[in-house]
Amino acid sequence: MGSEKCGFAVKALIVGGIIGALLIVILIPMSFSAVEYHQFGFVRQKSTGTVNTTKVYSGGKYFIGPDYEFKVFKADTQFITLDNVAVFTSDKLEVSITVFIQYSLRKDELPLLHKQFDLYYEEIVKNSAIDALKGAVPVYSTRQLILNRVQVQETINKAISERLGGICCRPGCPYNGSCESGCTPYERCADNQKGLFLDVKGTQLGKVVIPDDVENRFLRALILQEESAREELYQEAQVVRKETEKIVAQIRNDAQEIKQNATVLSEYIGTISKANYTATIESARAVGLKRLFSDLSITDQKYKSSFDYLRTLKDLSNIYLTVDFQQRIAGSFGSGSK
Ligand SMILES: *[C@@H]1O[C@H](CO)[C@@H](O)[C@H](O)[C@H]1NC(C)=O
Ligand SMILES: *[C@@H]1O[C@H](CO)[C@@H](O)[C@H](O)[C@H]1NC(C)=O
Ligand SMILES: *[C@@H]1O[C@H](CO)[C@@H](O)[C@H](O)[C@H]1NC(C)=O
Ligand SMILES: *[C@@H]1O[C@H](CO)[C@@H](O)[C@H](O)[C@H]1NC(C)=O
Repeated sequence: MGSEKCGFAVKALIVGGIIGALLIVILIPMSFSAVEYHQFGFVRQKSTGTVNTTKVYSGGKYFIGPDYEFKVFKADTQFITLDNVAVFTSDKLEVSITVFIQYSLRKDELPLLHKQFDLYYEEIVKNSAIDALKGAVPVYSTRQLILNRVQVQETINKAISERLGGICCRPGCPYNGSCESGCTPYERCADNQKGLFLDVKGTQLGKVVIPDDVENRFLRALILQEESAREELYQEAQVVRKETEKIVAQIRNDAQEIKQNATVLSEYIGTISKANYTATIESARAVGLKRLFSDLSITDQKYKSSFDYLRTLKDLSNIYLTVDFQQRIAGSFGSGSK
């Protein structure tokens, strides 16, 4: 009997051991739970469904116990397209606008997001963005929507970023200068100023569709405007042409005057030079003759006169002089007769 009892106890011990080992083998892997690298997670108790939002977990494997699992949120960038949203312009026209938005959840504000929206924030984010867009556009006219795209894009971006991201500075931003301009310091920021607890990373203005008849009217107005500009330019050209003609006439007139002045001046210089030339030649001749007479020792006024007479004759173009040994000098009139 005793040995039977003893055998039973041993068996119970072995069975208990096996069960315990099995439990450990089963429970330990069950105690590990993973958060993917593109996720944030809160710990949730499986049996009660209670979510503990004290700590936000990033990607990794965690030992949290067999009765716990992770409730996960997206940590990567999320995309929204506001497709052809109908908005009014300041001139009371309905146009449709497409806007692309990228945002991501803020890890530090995830408990607030969870408390307000749980996992159902996406639709709310989209509707808030549409609301912000509808509020931002009506300050522009249809014309400005077409011509001032850059400015419109900036306004829309600011409106959507503030609606979704709130007006609070990010914690720590003063230390590395990354604060948005005009944001409310984080310490003084209430939860209701934090928007939908997410960061808007970018917005892009897509196509702006204007109703056909409006567009046609707009084009007609543009054409009229261009035509009136053309008319104005034509008239301006007319005036410029007239002025140019006047200037041309003036310049021609001046040129004529300068030419006449130049002609007069050249005649004057010519006359002076000729006189100067004759005077120079004559004075040179006087000096030359004086020297000749003194060198040849011609002193008699009679010889002096006849020498000068012959010299003058020699220069006349229609006189031809030759030397003859009998008569000593012979002359004949008539040019060219050698
Ligand atoms: C929630 O988690 C924190 C740390 O992870 C822990 O200190 C706290 O006791 C938990 N709260 C509840 C109610 O389980
Ligand atoms: C600025 O500092 C904050 C907190 O220290 C950090 O989260 C953020 O990434 C930094 N930004 C830049 C641009 O360095
Ligand atoms: C022409 O000569 C007159 C008189 O010498 C002078 O007054 C005038 O300015 C000159 N005109 C030009 C174009 O030089
Ligand atoms: C005439 O010629 C002389 C020298 O040959 C010169 O000095 C003088 O300026 C000239 N006069 C004129 C009016 O050209």
